[in-house]
Amino acid sequence: MRTDRGLQPKGQEPKWLDQWQQACSDLARLRLSQPMLDAVIDEVAGRMIRIGDQWLADFASCNYLGFDLDPEIIAAVPPYLARWGTHPSWSRLLGSPVLYEQIEEQLAHLLGAPDVLALPTITHIHMSVIPVLAGSGTILLDGRAHKTLYDGCSVARSHGASVIRYPHDDVGALEELLAASSVHPRMICTDGVNSMTGNTPPMAELAGLARRYDAMLYVDDAHGFGVIGERSVDEASPYGTKGNSVVRHAGESYDNVVLVGALSKAYSSLLAFIACPTPIKDFLKIAAPPYLYSGPSPVASLATVLAGLAVNDRCGDAIRADLYRKTRRVLDALEDRGIATPNESGLPIIEVALADADDIDEVGRFLFSRGIYVTLAAYPLVPRSDVGFRIQMTAANTDGEIDHLVATLDELRDRFGLQMLAERPATLALAS
Ligand SMILES: Cc1ncc(COP(=O)(O)O)c(C=O)c1O
Repeated sequence: MRTDRGLQPKGQEPKWLDQWQQACSDLARLRLSQPMLDAVIDEVAGRMIRIGDQWLADFASCNYLGFDLDPEIIAAVPPYLARWGTHPSWSRLLGSPVLYEQIEEQLAHLLGAPDVLALPTITHIHMSVIPVLAGSGTILLDGRAHKTLYDGCSVARSHGASVIRYPHDDVGALEELLAASSVHPRMICTDGVNSMTGNTPPMAELAGLARRYDAMLYVDDAHGFGVIGERSVDEASPYGTKGNSVVRHAGESYDNVVLVGALSKAYSSLLAFIACPTPIKDFLKIAAPPYLYSGPSPVASLATVLAGLAVNDRCGDAIRADLYRKTRRVLDALEDRGIATPNESGLPIIEVALADADDIDEVGRFLFSRGIYVTLAAYPLVPRSDVGFRIQMTAANTDGEIDHLVATLDELRDRFGLQMLAERPATLALAS
C-alpha cells in the first residue's frame, strides 16, 4: 500500500531515496499547497490558460516561437495522420517512417552538422548516449548542468566512467582538470542556453579546450535550438539567424563537438536530436537503447516538426525578432525597477530571485491571484540562494499580457522582497 513515505514500508527505503525525499521536501510541500504547481489546465486561448475559474497569462511555456498555436502548422497535421495513422509503433531499429529521414536531413542541413539522429526526448538521449560516448573514460560535468545531463552522467558512472564536476562556466578550472586527467575518452558536458539563467556558456573556449585536450564537448541546447543561431550582418535581432543553435551562434564548427537539441520547446513537438558524425550515428543505432527499444514520437509530432521547419525557413527570423522585442520589454522593465536577473543574453528565460526564499509560497499565490502564470523556481530546482520564479517569453504572448505582467511585478516588488541589482549575491553574478 502506498504511504506518505513512498512505496517502501517504513525503515526499508534505500538511503538515496531518503536523501532525495529530503532534498525535495520544499517541492513536495509546494506541490500540495500551491495552485501554480502540478496544475490541471482546463482550457487554453492563445497564451491565456484557464485553471478552474481563473484565467492566467502563461509565462511558463517553452513554445518560444508560438508554433503550438500557428494555424498553418496545426492544419498540416491531419494529412499526415491520414497517410501514416497516429503512431508508428515500431522501435526505430525495426523501422521508421520516411518522415524521420526527412527530418534528420533537414536538421543536419539547418545546423550545418555532419549528421543527425532523432529520438523522442533529450532525456532518452542523455541516458543512453552519454554512457556510450564516455565508456570507462572521464566526464567533466558543468556544476550547474541540467539534471537530465547529471543523470546521464550517473548512468555512465555506473558503467565505469569517472564523473568530475567543475564550477559553472569556469574554463580555467576545467582546463586544470583536463590537464590532470589522463583517462580517455574524455567528455565535457554542459548546457547550451542555461534553462534558468538564460545565458550561453563560453562556447568558443569550451570547444577550444575540447580540441586541445582531445576531448569531446557534449552540449545540451534544449532551450537555444530554434531561438539562437548563426550571426549575420543583416540579422533582425541579436538572437542571430535561422535558430540553428548555440554552436553556430558562437561561430563554432562541430569538430570535437556533439550537440543535443529539443524540438519539444521552440518547435512544440515531441522529438529531440543529437548532431554528430555519421560513424557515431551508425554506432548509436545499435548501442543506444532508445533506438533499439523505445516507442517513437507520434506522427503528429513528426508532422509539426516538418511544418515548423518550413515556417522557420520562411519567417523564423521575423518571429525571433518579435520574441526578442517582447523579451526586451520585460528585461527593460526589470532593469528600470532595479530588479535583478541573471539574464545577460536577452534570451527569453528570465529568472527573478526572492530576497527571502521562504516567501515563495505566498509569491506563487499572489501571482496566481493576479492572473500571471510562471515557473516557480523552488529548491532543489535551483540553489537556495536563487529561489524565486522564471518568466518565459514566447512569440505568442501579447503586448497586453506583457503590460499586465509588468504591472504585477510593480505590485509584487511593493509587497515582497525581490533581489535587487545592487544586492545580487555572488552566486548569481557568477552564474551569468
Ligand atoms: C536543458 C534541458 N535539457 C533537457 C531537458 C529535458 O528534455 P526532454 O523533455 O526532451 O527530455 C530539459 C527540459 O526542460 C532542459 O531544460
